[in-house]
Amino acid sequence: MRLAVLTSGGDCPGLNAVIRAVVRTASTEFGDTVVGYEDGWVGLMDDRRRDLYDDAEIDRILLRGGTILGTGRLHPDRFKNGLDQIRSNMEDAGVDALIAIGGEGTLKGAKFLSDNGIPVVGVPKTIDNDVNATDYTFGFDTAVSVATDAIDRLHTTAESHNRILIVEVMGRHVGWIALHAGMAGGAHYTVIPEEPFDIADVCKAMERRFQMGEKYGIICVAEGALPAEGTMDFEAGGVDQYGHQTFNGIGQVIGSEIKNRTGYDVRTTVLGHIQRGGTPTAYDRVLATRYGVHAARAAHRGESGKCVALHGENIELVDLAEAVGKLKTVPQGRYTTARALFG
Ligand code: F6P
Repeated sequence: MRLAVLTSGGDCPGLNAVIRAVVRTASTEFGDTVVGYEDGWVGLMDDRRRDLYDDAEIDRILLRGGTILGTGRLHPDRFKNGLDQIRSNMEDAGVDALIAIGGEGTLKGAKFLSDNGIPVVGVPKTIDNDVNATDYTFGFDTAVSVATDAIDRLHTTAESHNRILIVEVMGRHVGWIALHAGMAGGAHYTVIPEEPFDIADVCKAMERRFQMGEKYGIICVAEGALPAEGTMDFEAGGVDQYGHQTFNGIGQVIGSEIKNRTGYDVRTTVLGHIQRGGTPTAYDRVLATRYGVHAARAAHRGESGKCVALHGENIELVDLAEAVGKLKTVPQGRYTTARALFG
């Protein structure tokens, strides 16, 4: 049997661990061969591919961030119009089944192919941890570790200068990274997209700290956070050519607003793509490897329209339909728990 693998959408630490596990499992358990398509769906449509061998080179990519295959984004319309091209490219390459590694958008694409008779198994990835069907996506733990390390470092400089420091982390539609990094790093307030914030409440929490004799504050802000209606002026971003949300620097805007309202010295740090780069944590390597092994086995068995997912301790197969159409947002109770530590 011949399997194909591709990585699509924003990269994240652990993609190479999945690729390695797919290639090794395909080879050692089944004697299957594997081909990798370059730059996600674009490479599949343009028939840019290379054979991946179970050799020393593939063995060493476990620690490597990014993706050796490259990744890319494709407009959904171009993708849909390319169905025949994809089908004939896969037939020409002798590919029996495809393993598509990506976030919600990629899994939607995988479902579309599967609905149209092309065998596909999905592997959920994203640092945002917002794929609905699984407890965790790999990449998230690494992003949280990077953001937590940044917050740890901000504490000492904030305290030395009697400042409020704001750290803006990724999280387009959901606040998982902000919630976890804010809690792990002991931030004094965290704002997430799911819970529109009142700037007056944020200022009050900071003032309370200073009144109690503390001389600094750390605020963790998800990039997609928005003020509650009528509480503060803010022009939300638009959408890019792929229909993805763009941002207008909410961290910076919150910083200026706090400075204007309280007079405190405020600075903002935007972590950006630092959270997505570099070597995956041990947790992400293990999760990504388990996903890769199970995806290779499922593809070899002839499963299609399915996605590997973590449920509790176990890796299970779920319908791709469960993984798309709805994001896994932070439940209100989790935010209420975080709130107990604000101020
Ligand atoms: O979806 C993952 C993510 O890292 C988001 O947190 C972030 O908003 C987005 O990708 C950034 O994407 P780009 O690579 O287009 O800058």
